[in-house]
Amino acid sequence: MTSAPAPRPLTLITGATGGIGRATAFALAPDHDLILQGRSRAALEDLQREVQLQHPHTRTELLELDLLRPDTFAAAADLRPTHLVHNAGVAELGAVAKQTHDRWTWTLAVNVVAPAELTRLLLPSVQAARGTIVFINSGAGLRANAGWASYAASKHALKALADALRQEVADSGVRVASLYPGRTATPMQQAIREQEEAAYDPAAFIQPATVADVVRYVLAAPRDVSLDDVAVRPGPR
Ligand SMILES: NC(=O)c1ccc[n+]([C@@H]2O[C@H](COP(=O)([O-])OP(=O)(O)OC[C@H]3O[C@@H](n4cnc5c(N)ncnc54)[C@H](OP(=O)(O)O)[C@@H]3O)[C@@H](O)[C@H]2O)c1
Repeated sequence: MTSAPAPRPLTLITGATGGIGRATAFALAPDHDLILQGRSRAALEDLQREVQLQHPHTRTELLELDLLRPDTFAAAADLRPTHLVHNAGVAELGAVAKQTHDRWTWTLAVNVVAPAELTRLLLPSVQAARGTIVFINSGAGLRANAGWASYAASKHALKALADALRQEVADSGVRVASLYPGRTATPMQQAIREQEEAAYDPAAFIQPATVADVVRYVLAAPRDVSLDDVAVRPGPR
């Protein structure tokens, strides 16, 4: 007698239309159904078409949300995901002496408040499925360098969110992972290089597909481990 195949997990990826988010969608599509979150309906539909072309058996749902509007998140709870990949993020460089409160508020709202609120709303579904919650953090979540205060503060706060949550949900079988990528070749990194007045050579940085493969591994890891903190540093050249 053959046993029934395990149901496909349903995985929410925030910032799915960005560099790492998009790569994660393609990395997971062979064996996950996907909820693709983004701000632009057109960009989400383009991504959905591309995923379905390559993986016709993958179910994709679109979640159009501005992460600056947590008051609009409630509908996401109806989607009942197994796993969450909190990937969306923003970064703007600036010295503490120069960066104004609106940039701080924006950075903390997208990078910390939104994942906290989405987690709160979706936790019952992840707990029911004994799923995994992945936070795409950054090397800046472990070290704060000059010119990076608002972004590093948001990512340090994201690490605190993940660490506290891990303890809170351990009894329900939910795993919580923080990934700390180094510089990765995405539109965010291109914008950062412009702010640094430095050249942008995508080949010089980690490839988004490599980070996505790490996400895939963290979600698929055998249940006898929890990959709590995963540094994804550039390999030696
Ligand atoms: N690239 C790096 O070097 C690097 C290194 C370490 C960690 N990270 C982290 O990796 C994650 C992904 O970054 P990435 O490099 O892939 O950047 P990206 O290409 O700029 O993608 C960022 C994503 O976040 C979304 N986003 C931004 N503001 C939003 C808002 N208000 N509401 C909804 N979505 C919003 C963007 O949506 P739109 O497409 O609508 O703009 C986009 O999909 C971030 O958390 C980042 O901090 C990146």
